[in-house]
Amino acid sequence: MADTNPLSNCRFAFVGCGVMAEVIIAGLLRKKLVGPEQIVGSHPRQARREEMHVKYGVEMFESNREAVTGTHPEGPDNSSIIVLAVKPQRLHVVLEELKGAFVKEQLVVSIVTGAKIETIAEQLLHASVVRTMPNTPAQIGEGMTAWTASSEVNEQQESQVRAMLDALGKNVRVENERQIDMATALSATGPTYIYLMMEALIDAGVHMGFSRRVAEDLVHQMMRGAVLFAVESHKHPAELRNMVTSPGGTSAEAIYQMEKGGLRTVLSKAVWAAFQRAESLGKI
Ligand SMILES: NC(=O)c1ccc[n+]([C@@H]2O[C@H](COP(=O)([O-])OP(=O)(O)OC[C@H]3O[C@@H](n4cnc5c(N)ncnc54)[C@H](OP(=O)(O)O)[C@@H]3O)[C@@H](O)[C@H]2O)c1
Repeated sequence: MADTNPLSNCRFAFVGCGVMAEVIIAGLLRKKLVGPEQIVGSHPRQARREEMHVKYGVEMFESNREAVTGTHPEGPDNSSIIVLAVKPQRLHVVLEELKGAFVKEQLVVSIVTGAKIETIAEQLLHASVVRTMPNTPAQIGEGMTAWTASSEVNEQQESQVRAMLDALGKNVRVENERQIDMATALSATGPTYIYLMMEALIDAGVHMGFSRRVAEDLVHQMMRGAVLFAVESHKHPAELRNMVTSPGGTSAEAIYQMEKGGLRTVLSKAVWAAFQRAESLGKI
């Protein structure tokens, strides 16, 4: 049978092995897309290097450059992906350190918030760059990642990126970096909107007289069920809402108050403000 795993001959180097790098490494290994011998990582702290080695069996380097150059492809069937997974404020130093360390066939995938493809490519002197925008539920494999690529990224590399990002949950390729900023406002900042609503609903339950634990149970499962029902039924949200809105009933009363309070407009304005913020942060 033909090998359908696009990562079977791919080697990975993770630059900065913090929370997100670990999530991706754990996902790649759990799904058996690669073995530990195909992964190396770098980290400035020895304790963290030891932890990653013991936990996942991956080789760890103190030097970012050594980790990257060790994954240079050795033949036409091999490929390698370098994942930049440091905090935005550390990126400049890391790019300086890695300048000119790549060969043409390598692919750089950045998960660094706000860092533009052009900036990364110029500073690394390397053209094949993918920029991703994951979100926090990626930490339990339920994330949503938007990504886009420079024109030098080929089809094989694109399918490798898709396979890699599957380790975080779902992913969608968007057309350009403006849409990465849009996804930053919608899916990456999105959990914040949901958590605020979750908190407000739990507090409303406590206000009525439920214990906090019972209010949390009711709200968590209600939210989970409502989302799953929306996804599985493929119905428009308004249709689902109408299904539970009987004349003169509780939903009708609640909807009236939410519209009166401008909830829909507030959400729309919040997403737009987050989009503008993402755009302005990208310019710094
Ligand atoms: N967490 C998320 O859900 C999420 C979502 C979307 C995007 N992102 C983006 O993903 C990137 C990584 O986030 P994260 O949550 O994984 O952060 P993190 O846990 O802080 O991971 C970054 C790691 O890089 C290490 N580091 C610091 N300086 C370094 C250097 N010079 N060379 C190599 N490694 C270095 C840090 O070590 P120390 O701990 O010793 O400082 C840390 O372990 C960030 O740019 C973030 O914006 C994260």
